[in-house]
Amino acid sequence: PFRGVIAIDGPSGSGKSSVSRRLATELGLRCLDTGSMYRAATLAVLRSGVGLTDAATILKVVEGATLEFGTTPNDRYSLVDGDNVDVEIRGPEVTAAVSAVSGVPEVRAILISMQRDIIAKANGIVVEGRDIGEVVAPDADLKVYLTADPNERARRRSMQAGADLAATAADLTRRDNADAKTTRPHDAAPGAVVLDTTHLDLDQVITALHELIAHKG
Ligand code: C5P
Repeated sequence: PFRGVIAIDGPSGSGKSSVSRRLATELGLRCLDTGSMYRAATLAVLRSGVGLTDAATILKVVEGATLEFGTTPNDRYSLVDGDNVDVEIRGPEVTAAVSAVSGVPEVRAILISMQRDIIAKANGIVVEGRDIGEVVAPDADLKVYLTADPNERARRRSMQAGADLAATAADLTRRDNADAKTTRPHDAAPGAVVLDTTHLDLDQVITALHELIAHKG
């Protein structure tokens, strides 16, 4: 069986999370959502009450927090200082603050080194994020860039969250633009297969990925 590293990058609402979890389950691989790592670090900062303006202070809080992540595809979890934060890190407060924390280079260095550790210890893993194929795991066996047109991404996100479409669209654009200062949410990594999911459902995306993996031997 395939026991390699699969990097899945793409902007918010491109379908990365559902695709990664399902693919990892079907292949019997581990699964790492790096977005939840940045979200957990952000929650630690928000809980500490230090504010989001000073990079050195943000870094100190992240360095002092104990962050743990589960990588079983159907039982992924995030812990901040032992506290399960899966629900809270998806909420609006964290979503609004995450780009400020993920934009601190030293915070990225800490999380990227944790990500590489997790990848090295897993016997095969699907890793999703923004910079996996380019920075975290440039030697991944398969790199995929998932995208979809902005209206479709907003539609999916608003359905998931039960939120207003226009507000979701505005939020996606704001976050993509803020993230573009540190990662390249609109560009595929070198060597990545680009998959536009605007007109594809989850089954079709998974089928396409299985075909790509079959060609990897
Ligand atoms: O994918 P998700 O929307 O959960 O990502 C949350 C945030 O984490 C992104 O908006 C971005 O700021 C940050 N992120 C990142 N690099 C990654 C994954 C996520 O900077 N590899």
